[in-house]
Amino acid sequence: MTKKHLISVVLMALLFSLALVACGGGGGGETSAVGDAKAGEALFNEAIIDVQPGCNTCHSLTPDTVVVGPSLAGVATRAETRISGMSAEDYIRESILHPDNYVVEGFTAGVMVQVWEETLTPEQVDNLTAYLLTLK
Ligand code: HEC
Repeated sequence: MTKKHLISVVLMALLFSLALVACGGGGGGETSAVGDAKAGEALFNEAIIDVQPGCNTCHSLTPDTVVVGPSLAGVATRAETRISGMSAEDYIRESILHPDNYVVEGFTAGVMVQVWEETLTPEQVDNLTAYLLTLK
């Protein structure tokens, strides 16, 4: 592939994703601006994702119930104030991709799976984030 060709492919991909974003907003349905919460919920409940334990093997959705990680009941509300100046959406995304940047009080760094950035597609991260944002 020539360099010029490569650039045009990249540009096309960019334009395509911009078009997708533009369409996502007005469509109604389950796809929010962040991602597809339904798809995120399904992924959250998978026992194994790639070769990692799935989210719900460590996270309960029952308030105050610790499995390995903290309960994610109400996480959307807590996420608003976890890191000052960071939106709930950014905090949730960050806690999936870089869990050790903020370690929930009472838990140990390094326990949450650290490789989601490599194993999940950006779309899967968006969908998980959209789903967790519904847990107010
Ligand atoms: C091996 C167990 C484990 C798995 C699997 C796991 N987590 Fe976690 N997670 C933790 C632990 C422990 C913490 C608390 C420590 C920290 O903040 O990193 C945590 C923290 C979090 C937080 C921050 C919660 C808060 O109240 O601030 C979010 C959000 C989260 N995980 C989402 C996920 C998602 C989404 C998945 C699946 C893609 C997942 N986790 C998979 C163990 C796990």
